Amino acid sequence: MNVNFEFATATRIIFGNNSVEKLPDIISLMGNNILLVTGRNTARAEKAVAKIRKRDCKVEIFSVGTEPTTKSIGEGINMARVKGCNVVVGFGGGSVIDSAKAIAAMVLNRGELEDYLEVIGQGKSLSEDPLPCIAVPTTSGTGAEVTKNAVIKSTEHKVKVSLRSNKMYPGVALIDPVLTHTMPPELTASTGVDALTHLLETFVSNQANPFIDLFCREGMERISTSLERAYKNGTDLQARENMALASMLGGMALANVKLGAVHGFAGPVGGMYPVAHGAVCACLLPAVMEVNIGAVKMRKLKEPLKRYDILARILTGDNMARAEDGIEWVKKLIEDINIPRLSEFGISRTDFPELLQKAKVSSSMKGNPVLLDDVELTTILEKSF
Ligand SMILES: [Fe+2]
Repeated sequence: MNVNFEFATATRIIFGNNSVEKLPDIISLMGNNILLVTGRNTARAEKAVAKIRKRDCKVEIFSVGTEPTTKSIGEGINMARVKGCNVVVGFGGGSVIDSAKAIAAMVLNRGELEDYLEVIGQGKSLSEDPLPCIAVPTTSGTGAEVTKNAVIKSTEHKVKVSLRSNKMYPGVALIDPVLTHTMPPELTASTGVDALTHLLETFVSNQANPFIDLFCREGMERISTSLERAYKNGTDLQARENMALASMLGGMALANVKLGAVHGFAGPVGGMYPVAHGAVCACLLPAVMEVNIGAVKMRKLKEPLKRYDILARILTGDNMARAEDGIEWVKKLIEDINIPRLSEFGISRTDFPELLQKAKVSSSMKGNPVLLDDVELTTILEKSF
């Protein structure tokens, strides 16, 4: 196999427990008029904000309640322009960081946000550089602090699409695992399986390469010992640290290698129903593994099967494990951390054909290790229902 890849990530990564203390110093190197994007609860960011204000910096707070929409991003861009902000900080989960990246990207670029979006727009390139952006994740799942896209929901088109550019990697990714200690168990579960899915899908992707494999192996191993522990005990220092690191590694992997069928379906499902991305990925993962492994065996594809065997060994810790053992391990994990079924999100079987059509043309589906036919894709939805 020829080795052929490109790799890019955030310009500077700072990782470690309590590293959030460094945020005021880092910001002051980048600008003095800050747009701080947070989630609904701004309390967690307040300590940092007070310290930043002491440095003679202005801080405007933009709170986002839901996953980013074209409307919410538009409001954020407007606020940054009106207040003359010169730095954007995203302090929160994946939605918050994606919002911060999209706002930073668009402040100096003219025209409508929609023009720059994939699928529903023309995917226009950013002509101006984004504002400096600092990403401070408070969940361990999306790895958005090291990716170059922002997932944005178009309520009009009922679809989630990306604003994507090589210019959108954050200038600084500041990852403090302690910030994730207060995540409730359900969020720990769904975001954690999202991170696992990023590592797993890029490891078996038809674009996999030996460089990204290193991240995938390391990340999957850490998740295998830590997700359930973090779910059961949110303040388990070691488990939270492992999950934060694995999430970052997953982000590095997905920014450089296409994902697969789980994310192929997760985009359309998230566009049509108000469900969290991580939860959707988590309930689809076992069925995608099962159908993919079956398809790979039927089509006698040796390389992806070998990769499914390897990941089964990493997850189970058993050197003799085979691909099927990986499915069983994931099924048990999903059960132990109480991931709901697809049917519990209000999805109906009558929507399957539309979901199928949307998933087939998604960017992530192009990374799936095997081209699945309509029957196989429907089986994934049926098994997850
Ligand atoms: Fe994801």
